[in-house]
Amino acid sequence: MNPGQPRLVDPQPRSDDKLEPALRPRALSELIGQDKVRENLSILLAAAKQRKEALDHVLFYGPPGLGKTTLAHILANEMGVNIKVTSGPAIERQGDLAAILSNMNSGDVLFVDEIHRLGKAVEEVLYPAMEDFSLDIVIGKGPAARAIRLKLPRFTVIGATTRLALLTAPLRARFGATFRLDYYEPGAIQAILQRAATQLGSPADETGLALLAGRSRGTPRVALRMLRRVRDFAEVRADGAITAEVAHAALDLLEVDALGLDDMDRRVLSTIIQKFGGGPVGLNTIAASISEEPDTIMDVVEPYLMQLGFIERRAQGRMATRRAYEHLGLPYTGTDNAPTLF
Ligand SMILES: Nc1ncnc2c1ncn2[C@@H]1O[C@H](COP(=O)(O)OP(=O)(O)OP(=O)(O)O)[C@@H](O)[C@H]1O
Ligand SMILES: [Mg+2]
Repeated sequence: MNPGQPRLVDPQPRSDDKLEPALRPRALSELIGQDKVRENLSILLAAAKQRKEALDHVLFYGPPGLGKTTLAHILANEMGVNIKVTSGPAIERQGDLAAILSNMNSGDVLFVDEIHRLGKAVEEVLYPAMEDFSLDIVIGKGPAARAIRLKLPRFTVIGATTRLALLTAPLRARFGATFRLDYYEPGAIQAILQRAATQLGSPADETGLALLAGRSRGTPRVALRMLRRVRDFAEVRADGAITAEVAHAALDLLEVDALGLDDMDRRVLSTIIQKFGGGPVGLNTIAASISEEPDTIMDVVEPYLMQLGFIERRAQGRMATRRAYEHLGLPYTGTDNAPTLF
């Protein structure tokens, strides 16, 4: 694979994910997996509805592709209110946010994706808006300037972030409820795939979908994208049915292995092991030796490798673990534990 080529297993949205809106669950009851989050949200929704109040501000965080945006839409849908969608980088100036806020109706949802990327000045407008439902704006300039306070209707901010640690403490504190989304169990992914296959009108058997689920890195976005590619393969090279045999052949051709690792993941691992004796080796060194951006490796390659326990982040750099050697079929040459005294 060439550097910069789109990856089938990329958890971040790709331009060819167009089919997704149709497959997106609309009601909380249609959401599969994330049982704890679902239960907590159902209580939050029921309570707000009983009291006929706007939903409290909600923050979702977790790795990309697990359903943060989907959940924001579900919440607005369940409350029967409008949702206005924006993102941290899209709101550049205080005035942009003021314009959005002054157009909100009672109960409406403002969904702020990548909320960790809001500018400081913009955040300062958001604080009183979230807390007191008021908008402080300054009109005029110099000595003639004066501040006026506008009353806003009660509305709901739903924030989403992949980087909770980058959120400022005061902003975090303004959310009444915060939920972490985690990678899905294979069974939940399989159920998501089953639902999607039915919607797409693709015959698929359980073993075929189980095989896909096992390679999808616990991420619905990746699973749904793989399903589309495997469906193509099934239609062109077989009779259209997604069986284990078909799924296996299709994913082999796409170079996604049994754990869902692709060529880029394997290149990172084999670089650490074969070029740098298993590590520790610095991120920039790894990036340079495979001609990738350090950020790409840190954000989209390492999280899954760490989740599998294939690499460890140490102060001196990245280390490959015994499991990584085993997965690549290489003899282990490192030491499992800190050296003993004898
Ligand atoms: N529980 C689920 N059931 C069915 N489909 C799901 C579920 N969660 C996510 N999806 C699907 O996975 C895809 C990605 O979900 P979504 O866009 O909500 O993720 P996200 O967490 O907002 O990602 P990002 O961090 O990139 O914004 C969507 O097509 C969505 O329909
Ligand atoms: Mg999203």
